[in-house]
Amino acid sequence: MTESIKVPKGLERVIVDQTSISSTDSKGHLIYRGYSATDLAAHASFEQTAYLLINGKLPSSAQLTEFSKRLKEMSNLTTQQEALAEFIGTTYPDNPIIDNLRTVISGIKLESKDESSQLLEMAAKIPGIISKLYYGSAQSPAKGGAQSGYAATFYRMITGKSDISLSKHFEKLLILYMEHEFNASTFALRVTASTLAGPKPSFTSALATLKGPLHGGANSEILNYLLSVKSRDEAIKYVDSKLAKKEKIMGFGHRVYKDKDPRAEFVKGQIREVAKRNGMEKLLEFAEAIEERMWESKRIPANVDFYAAIYLYMLGIKEPFYLPIFAAARSFGWNAHYKEQVADNKLIRPDSEYIGPKNLKFGHDKA
Ligand code: CMC
Repeated sequence: MTESIKVPKGLERVIVDQTSISSTDSKGHLIYRGYSATDLAAHASFEQTAYLLINGKLPSSAQLTEFSKRLKEMSNLTTQQEALAEFIGTTYPDNPIIDNLRTVISGIKLESKDESSQLLEMAAKIPGIISKLYYGSAQSPAKGGAQSGYAATFYRMITGKSDISLSKHFEKLLILYMEHEFNASTFALRVTASTLAGPKPSFTSALATLKGPLHGGANSEILNYLLSVKSRDEAIKYVDSKLAKKEKIMGFGHRVYKDKDPRAEFVKGQIREVAKRNGMEKLLEFAEAIEERMWESKRIPANVDFYAAIYLYMLGIKEPFYLPIFAAARSFGWNAHYKEQVADNKLIRPDSEYIGPKNLKFGHDKA
């Protein structure tokens, strides 16, 4: 009999498989297929980065044109898909969009036949589904101009606005949200993919897992407290009182990044630009006060979600969209991980250590 291996709870610092999609380290590096994710956010387009993650190499200009065209074509919802999104949105209007998105994805009839196209089709359609779930048939900001790319179209679908400068900022955040090696939702996707359940169930698992406040759900929990803060002193008191009560502050801490989250640093730099334009410098000042106090008190850095919430707010995006936006972007990373998992598959099925009672005899114990 082979011996089982004991690993730390939460699989902390355990390498469970190899990947060539992305890497992170505790010093604050995030690499997509060999390129720095923050460099890509600064200089590449969403489509270039999505192509890179899914295909392993940056596209040539012909490949980029072809990929962008395909993505755009796939993003259109069929009448049946639109009807499903509208039905779920109107039947459960009080559900968070992420829950309704998960239900739609699990029930959607995809047009594509092969797995690779099905994966891309789901990712391409998420912005349209989200918009439909939120706006229903009452409003349709979803119609995009022929020339706009994924990010500009997505931005218009959820805000109703066509603002090139703001949608460029939005694109940068989408790129940073796109991929993050074996994070919980991606791992859930890989577990489901490893059973050979197929793309739709795997995406559904990933969406269910992303929702939790310790993972993607953090970004929508942050905004309310940030907006309630009115001064630096109040920001500091807020941190002190949460820590005194041993409560966690959403948007801080990370399993891998112990000194800094490179995405948070990058986004903070971008916020400075937008804050000047929008006259929202105070919000950034209070956020920095919270960040400084957390670092002084616990040596815990802000993670991407802390600054993403502020960034999205400054870009004029409504809070219900924050987590679905994370899901939309991450679904391109899920594309790459699904393919990597099934290309060299081994069922993911760990052991457990049983610590319950033993040798009980049915019918011999008193109730
Ligand atoms: N506020 C206050 N204390 C914290 C926080 C926080 N946000 N995060 C960690 N700590 C403390 C924690 O209380 C513990 O302290 P002690 O050792 O005294 O008990 C210590 O730091 C280690 O925390 P942990 O929860 O055991 O660490 P982990 O690696 O299991 O957790 C985490 C990582 C992200 C779940 C955690 O930092 C957290 O809950 N953060 C808040 C939720 C959040 O912002 N999530 C978004 C993560 S980034 C986006 C994404 O990838 O989804």
